[in-house]
Amino acid sequence: MSERPYHIEQMISAKSIAARIETLAGEIETEFAGTKQLLVVGLLRGSFVFIADLVRELSLPVEVDFIETSSYGNAMQSSREVRILKDLRGKAEGRDVLVVEDIVDTGHTLAHVLTLLKGRRPARLRTIALLDKPARRETNVKADWIGFEIPDEFVVGYGIDYAQHNRNLPYIGRVRMDVDAPDDAPEVKKC
Ligand code: IMP
Repeated sequence: MSERPYHIEQMISAKSIAARIETLAGEIETEFAGTKQLLVVGLLRGSFVFIADLVRELSLPVEVDFIETSSYGNAMQSSREVRILKDLRGKAEGRDVLVVEDIVDTGHTLAHVLTLLKGRRPARLRTIALLDKPARRETNVKADWIGFEIPDEFVVGYGIDYAQHNRNLPYIGRVRMDVDAPDDAPEVKKC
């Protein structure tokens, strides 16, 4: 790995995540009770583990689709410009839609996707995010359901990466730079 040496400290255990998802799934089932088919839209790539666990807790007819937006590259800083790299395969018009995000940070990604989807006139459009960092918000977007509110710290695991690493951790961990790393150690570059 080329980035500065770091270690990961557990912040939210796999058990806590599973318990929270069970609760959230119950609330989503109530909200969408009677739906013909809920279109669950995962925002790639960070939501892939969350969406997999969430849909398996839902006793509703679901279709799963994905949107991929431009990401941070390999940096820890948010890029304000959001681009759609991959759009839905199917139509959202007249559908019950649930957007699944890993983290709402500045909120630009979610705001952009919601504007896009609203323009397609879904019957109902709701959002869920596993993590929320309200201290970092630059937009007034707010997910309808939040798994956990977290402080302004860079996190990894449970599908979420740092420079494409650590997505396979079963828990959410905070990234801690090793203090004894030399000052001239290479920073992670944006790409
Ligand atoms: P936003 O547009 O600033 O809200 O950024 C949302 C996206 O940034 C998330 O979907 C993540 O992919 C990424 N992101 C935000 N915070 C973190 C973090 O702590 N670790 C890894 N990725 C993050």
